[in-house]
Amino acid sequence: MVELGYDVTTIGVEDLYMGLDYFREVFGNFALPIVSANIYDESTGELVVEPYVIIEKAGVRFGVTGVMDHNTNIRTKRGEVESPGVTMTDFKEAVREIIPELSEKCDHVVVLAHMSKHHAEALVEQVSGIDIVVVGLQANPSMTAYERQNVMFIQPGNRGQHIADYRLSFDEEGVLQGYEGDVVKLDDKVPADAAMALKLKEHKQIVDAMRKEAAAARARELEERRAERGGYQETCLGVEASCTRCHAEQYEHWEGTPHAHAYATLQEKFQASNPECLRCHTTCQLDLKPDGSEVVPEELRNVQCESCHGMGTEHARDGSYGAIRVETCLKCHDKENSPDFSFATYLPKVTH
Ligand code: HEC
Ligand code: HEC
Ligand code: HEC
Ligand code: HEC
Repeated sequence: MVELGYDVTTIGVEDLYMGLDYFREVFGNFALPIVSANIYDESTGELVVEPYVIIEKAGVRFGVTGVMDHNTNIRTKRGEVESPGVTMTDFKEAVREIIPELSEKCDHVVVLAHMSKHHAEALVEQVSGIDIVVVGLQANPSMTAYERQNVMFIQPGNRGQHIADYRLSFDEEGVLQGYEGDVVKLDDKVPADAAMALKLKEHKQIVDAMRKEAAAARARELEERRAERGGYQETCLGVEASCTRCHAEQYEHWEGTPHAHAYATLQEKFQASNPECLRCHTTCQLDLKPDGSEVVPEELRNVQCESCHGMGTEHARDGSYGAIRVETCLKCHDKENSPDFSFATYLPKVTH
């Protein structure tokens, strides 16, 4: 964020998933100021970070504070930490309290609001003295800037997928005269910065290696439990073990479809250990838990026969095995991941 040119940020709900100790370990020596006026250390009763900073740009002083909706449910990663270790106070009260002090030190008050836009709008209706609100944690952002009660609202959306590129103009007294700009979608049209891309790749490689190590440990554990339990199970068997020897023709055809390389696609992106992606790029794993507590067996990588035809264990007993319906595909070809999907045009590409 420092290299991207950010001046200040606030605490988001995901920053606290692993608890306050972890937050401090990661962000303790962060080069970027983090502000929050309503998140307190449960054990000491102190604010977790500074309540605000003053940032000067072209002679204009901005007082920047941040707040999180106190009703936000800070989920903690199961088993890792029991409680996040923080308490939150009413965000409207927190901003109201801080504004007199802040206004004295700056020309414009900026609130980084980690909450829905409705809550952020309610904030400016009930608390005066705010000039600009930057809304985070908004699933359906309006993207372009707008005004409420003469307060400028910017909503660049989430996950760094957009940048709110607005230029503000001020007169000689530092009074805001207006703004112009737009929200830029950071898609393929925006060229990647080579140094940043490398950094991201290295980061993904590190996470990938950590996940693999954890997955290997869990796989050993599962194997032990399976051995203890023994017996027959309704399960997917995998193409090599169960289908190839009798259906060589279909196998050859399938090998030429993208389904047979779906796992490699994830490997190329260093996402082959990310349960969020594995669900659909493997076989019979649609219910894979997102917390990484389950392992995809090696023989079920890629979108194999059983993804469309059902478990091999069914085939042995039931002659009706294999009927393909549109629902078969939609489980993976949803709007988000396969926006162009149409049963009529996609089906012929996979029929053997
Ligand atoms: C021991 C040999 C054998 C194995 C192993 C086998 N099949 Fe079959 N399969 C058959 C036979 C025989 C038929 C019925 C004749 C035909 O359509 O070729 C059949 C039929 C099918 C059909 C058509 C069913 C229908 O209702 O028309 C599908 C689909 C199918 N198999 C898929 C699979 C898949 C997927 C696997 C692996 C999980 C598999 N088979 C494993 C022998 C086998
Ligand atoms: C278990 C999840 C899953 C199921 C079920 C599934 N697909 Fe796919 N499909 C994928 C994935 C993942 C890819 C992308 C593979 C890659 O390129 O890495 C894909 C790719 C495709 C492609 C290639 C698209 C392209 O851009 O060339 C076609 C065609 C396709 N699927 C058709 C179907 C049809 C038709 C069905 C239902 C009969 C179906 N798929 C069922 C996951 C699935
Ligand atoms: C709900 C199922 C689903 C999930 C979850 C999913 N994918 Fe996919 N993915 C697909 C399908 C289906 C396609 C094929 C889309 C098409 O061509 O219509 C695809 C295609 C792709 C492609 C393009 C393949 C190519 O070469 O054309 C990439 C890359 C990809 N997925 C990566 C990922 C990553 C990384 C994740 C996790 C962050 C992920 N996917 C999660 C279903 C899914
Ligand atoms: C993306 C979905 C999909 C995948 C993956 C897939 N099939 Fe099929 N399969 C179909 C469709 C569609 C048909 C056409 C019949 C139908 O509509 O039920 C079919 C038909 C069949 C049949 C019936 C005979 C025939 O050729 O029409 C067999 C046998 C078969 N598949 C075996 C396999 C085997 C073995 C694999 C894995 C190597 C496999 N299928 C992977 C979609 C799939």
